[in-house]
Amino acid sequence: MSDIVEKLVTFSQRFNADLENCFPFVNGAENRVIEAMRYSVMNGGKRLRPYLLCKCAELFNVDYETAFPAAASLEMLHSYSLIHDDLPAMDNDDLRRGKPTCHKQFDEATAILAGDGLLTYAFEYLSNALVIKPEIRLTLVQLLSSAAGAFKGMVSGQTLDIYATSTGNIQEDEDIISRLEEMKTGRLLRYACEAGAVLGKADVEKRNVLISYSRKIGQAFQIADDILDREGDQNLVGKTLHKDDEQSKFTFVSYYGIEPARQRAEQLITQAIDEISIFNDKAEDLKNLAHYIIDRKY
Ligand code: IPE
Ligand code: IPE
Ligand code: MG
Ligand code: MG
Ligand code: MG
Repeated sequence: MSDIVEKLVTFSQRFNADLENCFPFVNGAENRVIEAMRYSVMNGGKRLRPYLLCKCAELFNVDYETAFPAAASLEMLHSYSLIHDDLPAMDNDDLRRGKPTCHKQFDEATAILAGDGLLTYAFEYLSNALVIKPEIRLTLVQLLSSAAGAFKGMVSGQTLDIYATSTGNIQEDEDIISRLEEMKTGRLLRYACEAGAVLGKADVEKRNVLISYSRKIGQAFQIADDILDREGDQNLVGKTLHKDDEQSKFTFVSYYGIEPARQRAEQLITQAIDEISIFNDKAEDLKNLAHYIIDRKY
């Protein structure tokens, strides 16, 4: 296991234990939706976004306990996006993180509600986090809602993912694909980095450096996801493969092919690493994480 994978796994063990405590059992038939929320949040997942958030916060000496509510709420929101992404009306997927998707394990209505529950709970949990100063908490709520939303946020990206098609003009098509990647995947990864900077009261220059880094890794992350869909090992990926071609998704891979996509992802990662050189050795894990984002097998 490479060093960065080992660090991610160690982080995940602690993070998962704390995250599970956010989902107490409730009495009554309404526990069904909480069970579905817990199922989807706790069923594996690389925890890349929380790790990224905590690592960026650490650059400014913010400890794990303070960063945790921001990291946990981000992972809740991310898990909601996956539940809804898998629904029959969207990607119609049966497998997520190596297990049946939420609507397969429960049913469609429960999966929709579990997604709604996680999205809402993310903001409830974050806004109640007394360990974070009120003005910082408010900024995080503003940033997270805009990253997740319909105005150039994740929901907007998901809309392009479902409805975007080629215009026949290469320049315009490239622009659509990069906006799609930037919004559907990039915005939450950008939030992870920006939240770390906000928690650490970073100056504008350092915050912008982390934003630039996050934009590069965000795009590379989605290209890597699209490559895995085309040629990954389903047992490792834990998702049904070849969905993108089957559903004629408009991706960098489908447009240019695997090799140009791989080169593009590598180029983005080199640029991302370059961006954070001002942090010197303190950013070693973030540099290794950037490599991992495109080398990963799941
Ligand atoms: C999958 O994200 C969805 C995309 C944005 C491509 P991850 O690959 O981070 O999924 P988990 O959280 O590890 O399952
Ligand atoms: C989904 O992208 C990204 C979000 C959930 C916002 P994909 O549809 O490519 O993700 P996977 O491959 O199902 O994880
Ligand atoms: Mg999708
Ligand atoms: Mg999908
Ligand atoms: Mg995918």
